[in-house]
Amino acid sequence: MTLPRRELAPAKLNLTLHVTGRRDDGYHLLDSLVVFLDVGDVVTVAPGPLSLRLTGPFAGALADDPQNLCLRAARLAGREAVITLEKNLPVASGIGGGSADAAAVLRALDARPPGTEILGADVPVCLAGRPMRMQGLGEILTPLPPLPQLHVLLVNPLCGLSTPAVFAALDCRVNPPIPQVLPDFPDAATLIAFLTDCRNDLQPAAIRLLPVIADCLAALQGAGAALARMSGSGATCFGLFPDARTAEDARRAIAADHPDWWVAASGLAQDRGTL
Ligand code: C5P
Repeated sequence: MTLPRRELAPAKLNLTLHVTGRRDDGYHLLDSLVVFLDVGDVVTVAPGPLSLRLTGPFAGALADDPQNLCLRAARLAGREAVITLEKNLPVASGIGGGSADAAAVLRALDARPPGTEILGADVPVCLAGRPMRMQGLGEILTPLPPLPQLHVLLVNPLCGLSTPAVFAALDCRVNPPIPQVLPDFPDAATLIAFLTDCRNDLQPAAIRLLPVIADCLAALQGAGAALARMSGSGATCFGLFPDARTAEDARRAIAADHPDWWVAASGLAQDRGTL
C-alpha cells in the first residue's frame, strides 16, 4: 500500500429507520434502509506516528480528543498513521459522521480488524459503503437491489442531539419492521411511494427533544420534497426531490430563509461511482 492515501467518508442516510425491539443490554434492534451520498468528510492517512489533524468547516466542533473515532479505528487495526480529517459534515448529526470517518480510516489503511462495531453501530455499514438493509444492532447487512437516482437535500439546524438521549426518549420500542421482501424499485416514484409507508421511529422522540427538527421537515415539504424525513437519531433531515433542478431551487430557498442552518444538495454515491 502506498501512502498518503485519501478516502471519502460519505454521509450515510437512513431512508427508513424502524426500531423493532430492545435487547436486555438496552441496545435497540433496528431495521433500516441505508444509502450513501456524494457529500462527506475526507480522510487522508500518511506514514508516521499515530496522530490526528482536523481541518474543514466543522473541525472546530470536534475537541482534540484521543478518543476520536479515527484514532480508535487505527488503534483497533494496530496501525500507526498521520491522519488528517477534513470535517465537512456537521458532527453528531445522524448522517454517519464518526462512523463514516472511522470506516474511511480503515479503508485507507486497507485494514479490516474484527470487532469494528465496537467503534459504533454504523461502522459495519459504513465499511460496506453501498446501499444496504441494516438489521440487528447494525451488524446484519443485506445488499439492496439497484436503486434509482435520488435527488437529496440535507437540512441540519446545527443543534446537537445526543443519540442515547433520543433512544431513551422513545415512547414505543417494539414497532413493525420494514416488509420482509422488498419490491423492485424501477424508478424514484416507486421507491418514494414505498418509503412513504415506512418510518423513522426515532423522529417523534427527536422532535420532542429538539422541536426545530419539525421546522426543518416543514421547510423541506414547503419547498416541494416528495418525502421529508429525519436520518438516524437526527438532527439532520432529508428531502427527496423529483429532479436535480427542484432540489437545487429548494436548497437556495431554504438556505436564504434559514442562514443559520446547514443545507446541502446531494445525489447517491453509487450514481457517480464514487465508491
Ligand atoms: O453505536 P453508537 O455510538 O451509534 O450508539 C450510540 C448510543 O445509541 C448507544 O450507546 C445506545 O445508547 C444507543 N443505541 C441503541 N441501539 C442501537 C444503536 C445505538 O440503543 N442499535
